[in-house]
Amino acid sequence: MRIDIITVLPELMESFMQHSIVKRAQDKGLAEIKLHSLRDYANDKYKTIDDYQYGGGAGMVMMIEPIAKCINQLKSERQYDEIIYMTPDGEPLEQKTLNMLSTYNNIIILAGHYKGVDQRVRDIFVTKEISIGDYVLSGGELPAAVLCDGIVRLIPGVLGDETSALTDSFQDDLLAPPVYTRPEDYQGYKVPDVLLSGNHKAIAEWRHQQAEEKTRKWKSKFKK
Ligand code: ADE
Repeated sequence: MRIDIITVLPELMESFMQHSIVKRAQDKGLAEIKLHSLRDYANDKYKTIDDYQYGGGAGMVMMIEPIAKCINQLKSERQYDEIIYMTPDGEPLEQKTLNMLSTYNNIIILAGHYKGVDQRVRDIFVTKEISIGDYVLSGGELPAAVLCDGIVRLIPGVLGDETSALTDSFQDDLLAPPVYTRPEDYQGYKVPDVLLSGNHKAIAEWRHQQAEEKTRKWKSKFKK
C-alpha cells in the first residue's frame, strides 16, 4: 500500500515515519509512505501557501493552487482510492474505517493547517473527510499520523503476531479483555488464577466474559 501525505510540516511527520510500526511496515516493503512538502508546490518565490480569507475574519486559509498542483501531480502518476482531508468537522474515525482503508492500494492524506483549506479543495479533490475526535488541534499532521498508524498496522504481515490486530479492542465491537505478565504477584495484586491454570477453554471463556463486562461498563459510562 502507498500513502502520500501532503503537509506544510514534513519535518514533524518525518520522525514518526522513522520510528514506529509505520517504519517497520516500510522496511518490510508492505507500505510506502511519501511526505510531500506543500511549499514545494507554491506558485511564487516566497513559497506562499496561505492567504487571508475573503469576507474577512481571523486566521489564514490554505490556498487551492499549491494543493491542486501537488494532488494533480500525484494523480497523473497513479490512481488513488481515496483523497482524505483531516479536519475536526469530518467523519469521526472508527475501527471499521481503518479496516476498509487498510485494503486500499493508494491513498492521499491532506493535513490542514491554520483555518483550514479553501472550500474548493474539499469540493473538487477530497473524497473523504476524517476527524480523530471532537476537539481542535493546531494542524492535521498529528491526525494524519494517527490515521496512518491505524491503517498500516492492519496490513497483513506488518504486526509480528498475525492474529494480534484481530484481537484489538473495537474489532467485533468488543473491548479487549485485561492482560497480565510477570510477576504473578505484585505487592499482593495477583494475576487471576484462571490465566495460570493452563485450561485454554476456561481462559477463552474468562476473556470473553471480561471483554463483555468491560464493554458494557464502558458503553454506559461513555456512550450516551
Ligand atoms: N485537524 C485539527 N483538529 C483535527 C481533528 N480533531 N481531527 C482531524 N483533523 C484535525
